[in-house]
Amino acid sequence: MNQADGVSEKLLNAATEYLKNGRWFDWIHTQISLDFARRLCAEVGADPKVVLPAVILHDIGYYFYSDIENLEILTTMPNIPPFSEDIKEGHLVKGAELARKILNGVGYDYKVEEIVWIVRNHEGTDDRKRFLNINQAVVSDADSLFRVTDVGVRQAAEAYNLREEEIVKKMLELKDMWFITNEAKAIADEELRKLRAYWILEGFWR
Ligand SMILES: [Fe+2]
Ligand SMILES: [Fe+2]
Repeated sequence: MNQADGVSEKLLNAATEYLKNGRWFDWIHTQISLDFARRLCAEVGADPKVVLPAVILHDIGYYFYSDIENLEILTTMPNIPPFSEDIKEGHLVKGAELARKILNGVGYDYKVEEIVWIVRNHEGTDDRKRFLNINQAVVSDADSLFRVTDVGVRQAAEAYNLREEEIVKKMLELKDMWFITNEAKAIADEELRKLRAYWILEGFWR
């Protein structure tokens, strides 16, 4: 285990309670995004000591909305109704405050301001993202890559009551505006080719 992963484990323990009580899939989403983030850090030279904590903490703000019914369809796909800008914005603001508390709580003191800033700004709507640097870009890309995984597609299909093929079709139209780094775009294409629904759409599944 390297140093950054040691930090991740401690933070993940501290964030678990919030992640398991936000949207039902936030815990899974965070684990999967964390794997993408590790890979992207290595590929683009981002700082894992900033990126991994930011990924772990990026969606803890949904904890404050756990009482809201259908929280996942209000927050999963920008541009697809009934998406809620208010909840999206709220999870950024409240999540950033909570992130600072958690980082302080575990005694993490490396680039805390940057990590909190990234949690606060890890997404706009897809077409108006604001970016500071490569660390923020990697957090945003690792976050978005979840969508093109088996679990992400299944979650979206269930949330919107659509078939997985319909979700993947929508993704093929929208994905180019989801990613900032070319490395993430390449991983997204790789992940899509692992999906049965992708091959159904391509006409190669009988
Ligand atoms: Fe988020
Ligand atoms: Fe996320």
